[in-house]
Amino acid sequence: MKAAVYYENGSPDVFRYEEVPDPQVHPKGIVIRVEAVSIEGGDTLNRLRGALATKPHIVGYQAAGEVVEVGAEVTNFKVGQKVVTTGAFGSHAELRAVAARSAWAVPDGMDLKVAACVPIPFGTAHECLFEFGRMQKGEVVLVQAGASGVGIAAIQLAARAGASMVLATASSDERLEKLKPLGLTHGINYDRDDVASEVMRLTGNKGADVIVDPVGGAVLQSSINSLAYRGRVSMVGAAGREPMKVDVSTMMGGNRSLSGVFLGAEIGTDRVYNLIQGLIEDVAKGELKVILDRQFKLSEAAAAHRFIESRQAVGRVLLVP
Ligand SMILES: NC(=O)c1ccc[n+]([C@@H]2O[C@H](COP(=O)([O-])OP(=O)(O)OC[C@H]3O[C@@H](n4cnc5c(N)ncnc54)[C@H](OP(=O)(O)O)[C@@H]3O)[C@@H](O)[C@H]2O)c1
Repeated sequence: MKAAVYYENGSPDVFRYEEVPDPQVHPKGIVIRVEAVSIEGGDTLNRLRGALATKPHIVGYQAAGEVVEVGAEVTNFKVGQKVVTTGAFGSHAELRAVAARSAWAVPDGMDLKVAACVPIPFGTAHECLFEFGRMQKGEVVLVQAGASGVGIAAIQLAARAGASMVLATASSDERLEKLKPLGLTHGINYDRDDVASEVMRLTGNKGADVIVDPVGGAVLQSSINSLAYRGRVSMVGAAGREPMKVDVSTMMGGNRSLSGVFLGAEIGTDRVYNLIQGLIEDVAKGELKVILDRQFKLSEAAAAHRFIESRQAVGRVLLVP
């Protein structure tokens, strides 16, 4: 098969488009012919500095396609079925082998390009808001990097759950404008304005009850500074590529909390597996939306990663073999 591979970490220039051996099916796994790769925020970070499990390495968490091989012990998938898959690596390829437990059935008629974008961003956003953020109806939610995959999911899930206000940040006014139809109440341009001052102004000095932060670094400090009394930050990513050195001195007096959230640690549980299947079905019914930005050929993985890192993408960038 052909795959976008690299031999060392670095900028998008490290990608090579090469012939590599086909992946082998595990008795408890399946192999899919990839039809759409959703490039996750973690894929760009892994390319930059993540461990190489193999050499050459095929990066990538999430892809959808058609089942072409089923392991001897797998009873819940069949050849020809459409599925979306996740895994620690291996999405940027024509074929992908995963554990059956890391695959979800795509409902009949659902666009595979849309399905390719659901499990990780929507599952993560749900965990940040509800499992770890304990969000309740009527609370104020702040979503950092609202135009990211996780951010777009979080804005919609918070609005659907009855947040009294859904605030989000992004690096330009144009990016924020595109989030309004998803349930955004107010956008904050964090390249121009101070986030905590804006949150306090918009909430009458109360602050945000639940904050989803996939950026980290200086942005994480702005999340902490934006918290209401008893507010909760779900710290879920490092998109800002900065060290996580923050001042937590305001947390104790305000009964505030900061939780790390890692979907990967719980994605194999029945709770999260079933949650993700439900989110896929909600997207298929149109109750939640996936925003697709540009699409590139698999052979153009470098250009796709470069486009994402230029911070122009709103929602997902796809690779299509
Ligand atoms: N812990 C978990 O379980 C988990 C699960 C999923 C994702 N994540 C993490 O969450 C983060 C977001 O993932 P995603 O898939 O939503 O990412 P994404 O769709 O690629 O979006 C990342 C966003 O980060 C913002 N950003 C801020 N500083 C940036 C910088 N220096 N370079 C590039 N972008 C920057 C950009 O928006 P603006 O330009 O508007 O700021 C961009 O839209 C990643 O760090 C990912 O690893 C963690």
